[in-house]
Amino acid sequence: MGYETIRVEVEDHVGIVRLDRPDAMNALNSQLLDELGKALCSLDQNDTVRAIILTGSDKAFAAGADIKEMADKSFVDMFSEDYFSAGTERFLRVRKPIIAAVAGYALGGGCELAMMCDFILCADNAKFGQPEINLGVVAGIGGTQRLTRFVGKSKSMEMHLTGRMMDAAEAERSGLVSRVVPAKELMAEALKTAAKIAEKSPLTAMAVKEAVNRSYETTLREGVLFERRLFNALFATEDQKEGMAAFAEKRTPQFRGK
Ligand code: HXC
Repeated sequence: MGYETIRVEVEDHVGIVRLDRPDAMNALNSQLLDELGKALCSLDQNDTVRAIILTGSDKAFAAGADIKEMADKSFVDMFSEDYFSAGTERFLRVRKPIIAAVAGYALGGGCELAMMCDFILCADNAKFGQPEINLGVVAGIGGTQRLTRFVGKSKSMEMHLTGRMMDAAEAERSGLVSRVVPAKELMAEALKTAAKIAEKSPLTAMAVKEAVNRSYETTLREGVLFERRLFNALFATEDQKEGMAAFAEKRTPQFRGK
């Protein structure tokens, strides 16, 4: 598809996007953010795709925003181009589930990008961190907000203030990742998980994503009401009829996204 900083494939019903800047530990630059936004948008519109995996290499998911690209920029440059904002906004508009499959370093913008996915599976060699303080800046694509929601204020504050890294065991213990798997099994496990999601109704999967994400944005009462209305609305779909009929008939449901 002509991308230079990422690789994209579709395998069965799963879109796989691999960050691919091996000489720079997959550091995120403007080109990569732009290509990633375009690739995700096109996978989101591709009817055969029901789940997406975002991954990097076995050494690095991404070691942050590209420090060499940013180093000489002024406030006016950053503010006027609203650095990384278009790419991240496009990312957050994707309606299909996105799994981050993280091996190696997920630092700074890399950790933030993983947290923008719907959940994180990681390899036992994964290392997460928000080391921006070492560069004289703070996180810029949601790290102070999302890490705090994932792991709580105390650990988030410590991570951002010291710039230290968290290993996979600590990441699992503190709720940053859903599961840790041996490094060599990461992609197989991510594909297996994505395939399981792809068997479900894509409409229901989108509803789950909207409802769970709503829990970050609103009060409990409003969130529960939003969930109940989605639950009600899904009774207008063929997939609900199919799912419940299949249960009664003791067979596997065939969801068509209708
Ligand atoms: C640019 C990077 C990079 C980065 C690594 N490289 N991280 N280039 N931006 N974020 C490059 C190195 O310069 C080097 O290039 C090559 O990748 C290999 O990296 P090494 O440092 O030689 O590898 P190693 O010793 O194994 O150390 C790995 C590392 C370290 C621990 C991940 O590279 C590191 O600390 N990187 C920076 C992490 C960081 O501070 N991230 C936060 C960025 S700020 P050469 O050419 O020398 O071989 C951020 C803000 C987000 O993310 C907000 C955006 C709006």
